[in-house]
Amino acid sequence: MPETPRFVPGPHYDGWLTGVEQIGYGGDYNPEQWPEEVWAEDVRLMNEAGVNLVSLGIFSWALLEPREGEFDFGWLDRVIGLLHEGGVRILLATPTAAPPAWLYAAHPDARVVDRNGTPMGPGGRGLMAPTAPAYRSAALRITTELAQRYGRHPAVVGWHVHNEYGAPVALDYSMHAQRAFREWLRERYDSLDSLNAAWGTAFWGQHYEDWEHIQVPAATATSANPAQQLDFARFSDAALRACFIAERDAVREHSDAPVTTNFMAASCPATDLFAWGKEVDLVSNDHYLQAADPRGYVGLALAADLTRSVAGGKPWLLLEHSTSAVNWQPRNVAKRPGEMARNSFAHLGRGADAIMFFQWRASRSGAEKFHSAMLPHAGTGSRVWQEVTALGVGLGRLTELQGSRVQADVALLWDYESFWAQDLEHRPSEGTSHRERIDTYYDRLWRDGHTVDLVRPSQDLSGYKLVVAPASYLLTAEAAANLTAYVEAGGTLLVSYFSGIVDEHDAVHPGGFMAPLRAALGVWVEEFLPLRDGDALTVTYRAGAAGAGAASTDVTTLTGTVWADDLVLDGAEPVGSYADGPKPGGAAITRHRHGAGTGWYVSTNLDVEALATVMADVYASAGLAPSGTVEGLEVVRRTGEGATYTVAINHTDGDAKLPLSSPATDLLTGDAFSGDADVPAGAVRVLRTTTR
Ligand code: GAL
Repeated sequence: MPETPRFVPGPHYDGWLTGVEQIGYGGDYNPEQWPEEVWAEDVRLMNEAGVNLVSLGIFSWALLEPREGEFDFGWLDRVIGLLHEGGVRILLATPTAAPPAWLYAAHPDARVVDRNGTPMGPGGRGLMAPTAPAYRSAALRITTELAQRYGRHPAVVGWHVHNEYGAPVALDYSMHAQRAFREWLRERYDSLDSLNAAWGTAFWGQHYEDWEHIQVPAATATSANPAQQLDFARFSDAALRACFIAERDAVREHSDAPVTTNFMAASCPATDLFAWGKEVDLVSNDHYLQAADPRGYVGLALAADLTRSVAGGKPWLLLEHSTSAVNWQPRNVAKRPGEMARNSFAHLGRGADAIMFFQWRASRSGAEKFHSAMLPHAGTGSRVWQEVTALGVGLGRLTELQGSRVQADVALLWDYESFWAQDLEHRPSEGTSHRERIDTYYDRLWRDGHTVDLVRPSQDLSGYKLVVAPASYLLTAEAAANLTAYVEAGGTLLVSYFSGIVDEHDAVHPGGFMAPLRAALGVWVEEFLPLRDGDALTVTYRAGAAGAGAASTDVTTLTGTVWADDLVLDGAEPVGSYADGPKPGGAAITRHRHGAGTGWYVSTNLDVEALATVMADVYASAGLAPSGTVEGLEVVRRTGEGATYTVAINHTDGDAKLPLSSPATDLLTGDAFSGDADVPAGAVRVLRTTTR
């Protein structure tokens, strides 16, 4: 009889990793790639670098179960023993993201199939079809074996289930998916009539009379039904989550240690992380800089803020980032001296209580041999190793930050269902990228020094001074009512174009475009007026016209691209109008008092500079004070018991000043400040201010 699981499920979990009493520090450890003599050296060097936590065995299935049902745990016993002796704690992986060749050979039908019908694997990595019974039972067997054997091992302080669900493939079109999709639809819709209505199958004669006739939306001669595709995205996410839940529950039968899985917040839109966040005990993330973007640290901040938001504000683990270059981008730029530390402290400032890397020791062979590591090919004489050991020392001084929380005044809407719907074919303009709008508005908020939570449109928003909706194409009537109530109660809402257009079935809301937000914004859209590629228009904006303490009432001209609307005002005041473009003289930017709050609407694509003018007024109407620091000095605060920790990261080439309201001490250097703290070019400070 299995023991009754004693573990309290995810969202209620309030603990951390037993025995990791400092900020977690380490990385993925893949000892099976090295001869056994290297392992002792690994542990010695981990100690030298201050490593206290590793993720172990992520891709070890083929070695742990070399033949179906035959297990070899001897080598893993020895590695775990060495790490335990060395005081290094372990997140033990379930290795189900890399099924062994024998599983592919025995069950070729269980392979993931792409939209064109091509089955994938073996030879790379990535799970088999998440709904294939053979994969599911084999994954549960190896998970159970591991949990039984190591579930109570004192060094195993947590579980790293699978690896990056949704990568490399999130959508499976196999015969198993076909069957499971129909089952999922039968549960979602009580009858074929409701499915036909939800999918709008009267269009193009797609009406169904038999559940068995419904297919996964594989490649078709035209575009597949959008509501069907949207449901398939929901189903595919749920199928992956079911794999996680099954493994998690198998682990819990034998272990009290918390279970996590590494998300790819902000870079994998296929998994609805808000739903996943409810299933894990601890939230974890992987993040890699986009080397092509010299300001990739802004994307990093967004990913970290999203991870913290998914964790409901609780501390989270950064399970992977890189010490220097990755190997899978077109041009893999090495990190500059100090950059790895800045990246690490940026995650920490935004709520991470563990800073880890892919991977501990650089691989000699295989696809990732040019990927940087904590211990690079160049060895312990290298710059990277020096920076790794220095980071270990720095993090070792920050133990008191553990468990402290980040407070955000601004919320930015992030809704997977809306992304899935907007990414389908046949939209009014291929220039309308929800991600581009989110990134631009986030960048503006980052430059202006505002800390942001990423939130679903249906959640409680009352704690935020400002809610920004850069792209909310799919907005349910309930979510729109929530946003409206937020404004009514005194909130400031800013909505960007192509929002509030369709419901949960990708059907246009009745009453004109954006009708569900009409009360909050005092405006609706009669017709979309997208621009040709490369065209621009001019908006005459009366800066400060919005009042609410704005500094000037000058008239400014702003350039818009991509989009314009033919707006119908219903109470809103136009604070910007089109000087040219498809509707000269028409309202372009509006502001509306609704209840005790304000709803802003921006109907064109303003770049991050043009947004500065508008956002200054929006901040004023939301009562948000300017940050008072130079752009490029990233400042985030964590609040703990009796102290506030200000993490200040200078991304610029010049020294910067951070105004302080109370005396503070830099925990990294011991420097004490009152008045201003200087933050040298490229440097990081973690400033402790006592609050009682
Ligand atoms: C991650 C993955 C790691 C490694 C890394 C390389 O997405 O989880 O196993 O492949 O990328 O950057």
